[in-house]
Amino acid sequence: MSDPFAKNQENDTNFGFKSVSFDEKKKLVQNVFDSVAPKYDLMNDLMSLGLHRAWKKSFVNMITLQVNDHVLDMAGGTGDISFKLYEKAKKQHANIHITNADLTYHMLKTGIDRAIDRGILNGINYANTDAQFLPFLDETFSHYVISFGLRNVPSRAKALSEAKRVLKKGGKFYCLEFSHIFLSPIQKIYQNYAFKFIPKLGEKISNDKASYQYLVESIEKFPKQEDLALELRQAGFDNVNFRNLSLGLVAIHYGTKL
Ligand SMILES: C[S@@+](CC[C@H](N)C(=O)[O-])C[C@H]1O[C@@H](n2cnc3c(N)ncnc32)[C@H](O)[C@@H]1O
Repeated sequence: MSDPFAKNQENDTNFGFKSVSFDEKKKLVQNVFDSVAPKYDLMNDLMSLGLHRAWKKSFVNMITLQVNDHVLDMAGGTGDISFKLYEKAKKQHANIHITNADLTYHMLKTGIDRAIDRGILNGINYANTDAQFLPFLDETFSHYVISFGLRNVPSRAKALSEAKRVLKKGGKFYCLEFSHIFLSPIQKIYQNYAFKFIPKLGEKISNDKASYQYLVESIEKFPKQEDLALELRQAGFDNVNFRNLSLGLVAIHYGTKL
């Protein structure tokens, strides 16, 4: 007889270095982003020394847009990628539809406030939703983009399957995420910096050390470049590849739904 108290490994995942159930991770991640939302943008600049702006710029530069495209900015949070896509389409004089979808209300609310400040509230739609269970019809979007979000989702397999479902045939998937530096001495320097400095900075700026401890641990636990590419292929994407930025500290994975 099976032990009713044994943990079902198939429903376990990681919250940083801790092993937790999918449901627990979802709640813990939501607490993290509810807590960091007011200082999220400032912390991004401080932690990455402004580099996140260049990574996001490279990411959006890789995305080709056409008139009437429907773009899902999954885990879009405070809106950096949505804003960059909006500006890119505007420069091309292309009318596109952008939806910023995120699990955490306070991240989206900060994004809406930023959009109001920029005078572009009508250009972006918002959905407070989980990447694992999307409330969108099959084949709705021409692009599914996710920036620094996939690492936080309890089941990547579910999120990738949903990404494929909501993409139109020929639709493009793009993921920007922390990855693994391919020069080991530099990787060690980064790890020293990340584990010593980032949680302390989180404590000082956001009064929240634990959330930034989670951040650095979650980066360590995220799959290597080749392994994530394999997961994309297993989810049914074609033409999968990736591009390293900053020696692999960050990578852009992409694929197509054929
Ligand atoms: C590090 S932030 C990234 C925000 C934004 N994309 C950026 O690049 O600045 C991660 C975001 O993922 C969201 N998130 C975490 N788990 C999620 C899930 N299961 N479904 C949807 N969004 C999720 C969080 O609420 C948070 O806004």
